Amino acid sequence: MNLNMIYPIYVYGHPVLRKVTQEINKDYPDLDRFIEDMFETMYKSDGLGLAAPQVGKSVRLFVIDGEPLAEDHPEMKDFRQAFINPQVVERQGARVPMNEGCLSLPGLHEEVDRESEIRIQYYDRQWNFHDEVYTGYKARVVLHEYDHLDGILFPDRLSPLRRRLIRGKLNDISKGKFEATYRTVLPNSR
Ligand code: NI
Repeated sequence: MNLNMIYPIYVYGHPVLRKVTQEINKDYPDLDRFIEDMFETMYKSDGLGLAAPQVGKSVRLFVIDGEPLAEDHPEMKDFRQAFINPQVVERQGARVPMNEGCLSLPGLHEEVDRESEIRIQYYDRQWNFHDEVYTGYKARVVLHEYDHLDGILFPDRLSPLRRRLIRGKLNDISKGKFEATYRTVLPNSR
C-alpha cells in the first residue's frame, strides 16, 4: 500500500516563496518519502517541476518529470529526477525567450529569457553525486526550478515594463482570485 501525501501549493505573495532555501543532509527526516510526495503532488497538479518552497518547505530540493513534453521535446523523455542541494556552476549560450508558467502563479504565462546551456551539480535521492550539462528545454526547466531555491519567481525575470503590465494579475493571484485545479495556500494563511 502506498498512501501519498498530496501537498497544497503555496502561491505568489507567500513569504516562503521568497526565502533562500537551506541545504539538507542525509538526516533530513523521511527524505525519500518527501521526494515521492513531491512527485505525486506535481503529477496531481499537472506540473513539470516542483520546488520544495512551493509546498512550504524552505530546503534545497526540486523534482522534475519532463515526460509530458517528450513528444515535442525528445530530450525530455525519461527526464525524471530529484535534485538535492543543486548548484548551477556554469551558465552559457544565448539567452532565449520561452513561454513559462508556474504552479505558484496559476493562470500566468509569460515569455522568459534564460541561458540555453547550463552545468549543474547535485545529489539524487540515493545521494549519488552528479555533474551534468543540460541544453534546450532541460536547461529551461532546471533553471526555473533552481530559481525557486533562491526565492526568485519568473516575473522577476521580466522587463520592468512587462512586470508593470502584469501587476494586476499578480495582485489577483496573491488575493486568491484565480482558478486552479489543485489545492493552494494563500499568502495570508499560515
Ligand atoms: Ni515554478
